[in-house]
Amino acid sequence: NLAVPSSISYFWNLGSVLGACLGVQIVSGLLLIMNYINFSALSFDYSIILYQELSMGWFLHNIHMNGASCFFFFMFIHLWRGMYFGGYLNLFTWWSGVVLLLFNMVVAFMGYVLPWGQMSYWGTTVITGLLSVVPYFGDSILNYVWGGFTVGPSTLTRFMALHFLIPFIMVFTVFMHFIFLHNKGSSNPLGVPEEGGKTQFYPLFAVKDVWTFFGLLALLLFLVFIAPNALGDAENYNEANFLVTPLHIQPEWYFLFAYAILRSIPNKLGGVLALVFSVMIFFFFPLSSTKFKSCSFSLKHRVLFWCFISCFIFLTILGAMPMEAPYILCGQIFSVLYFFIIFMFLL
Ligand code: HEM
Repeated sequence: NLAVPSSISYFWNLGSVLGACLGVQIVSGLLLIMNYINFSALSFDYSIILYQELSMGWFLHNIHMNGASCFFFFMFIHLWRGMYFGGYLNLFTWWSGVVLLLFNMVVAFMGYVLPWGQMSYWGTTVITGLLSVVPYFGDSILNYVWGGFTVGPSTLTRFMALHFLIPFIMVFTVFMHFIFLHNKGSSNPLGVPEEGGKTQFYPLFAVKDVWTFFGLLALLLFLVFIAPNALGDAENYNEANFLVTPLHIQPEWYFLFAYAILRSIPNKLGGVLALVFSVMIFFFFPLSSTKFKSCSFSLKHRVLFWCFISCFIFLTILGAMPMEAPYILCGQIFSVLYFFIIFMFLL
């Protein structure tokens, strides 16, 4: 019988969709791990066993792989909704949300290593290698993370342990997210106090949630049955080989914007700082000097918001391009724009 603003749109159902995504990932992940072989020499064979020997193994694998994409897709829209409608004014709900985004990125990154394909191996080598920029301790940290002097069996074991554990910490963080949200209550598209215009969560919003769950199911089943590999990289169907570097190393689509920012700075330390800051910057939103409640009433913020979304999309496209002209320059321009637009938005 929660009181909810009566004017909230379907954008306010995305939180429930994210909860469903987390559920799908945990259940499919648990079923997958019951068959997983956590030993690098055999981990790739596990993928083959999964497809050829295990009943519905291909289905589980595709649900988990494409479920991660759906999770990020809806998470980005949920975050952008908060940006557009001033959701970040609800400080702790916003901050716990950014923590969930970070957790999700770490989980997805570690999960990608488990099939032990070429992109798993080389993606891990490139991204964990960034730790070496930490002054003085960099190499020691890196060796500890790898569990040796290169990405190998120990890396796989520790990544699997964390990939298993963090989703449960996420469940706890989601509860905190709810508690913070329910302390203050949901915002609304107009950004005005709607104390008198509130209605009960059940039945209207519960029914809307059911519709959005069907939307998620339709998208997920479309990806699984019609285009299971559309969002993945064919290179990861080759077994990891530390003697052969793929011509073009790139992460999954949801990391491409940050990857483009990383690559656009010629200095390694600078690139890593920009990469970290490209996500950490969302922590600073509640400190914004503007206290407007919804972009609907601010032309400046509306224009900046859509420039930000365009910039994010361009960076995602550029992150998948080879490192050659004109993509290098374009990447640098859009990376600067990414931070500049956010800065102007918060001003
Ligand atoms: C596992 C990930 C997440 C789950 C399960 C989740 C769940 C939810 C739910 C159920 C709601 C209430 C319904 C709604 O307003 O959509 C909500 C609201 C909210 N979430 Fe999340 N969320 C997640 C990630 C995030 C992220 C990444 C952010 C952004 C940094 C975020 C920021 C917010 C904000 C600001 C609200 C309050 C919206 C308002 O003012 O009404 N959440 N979340």
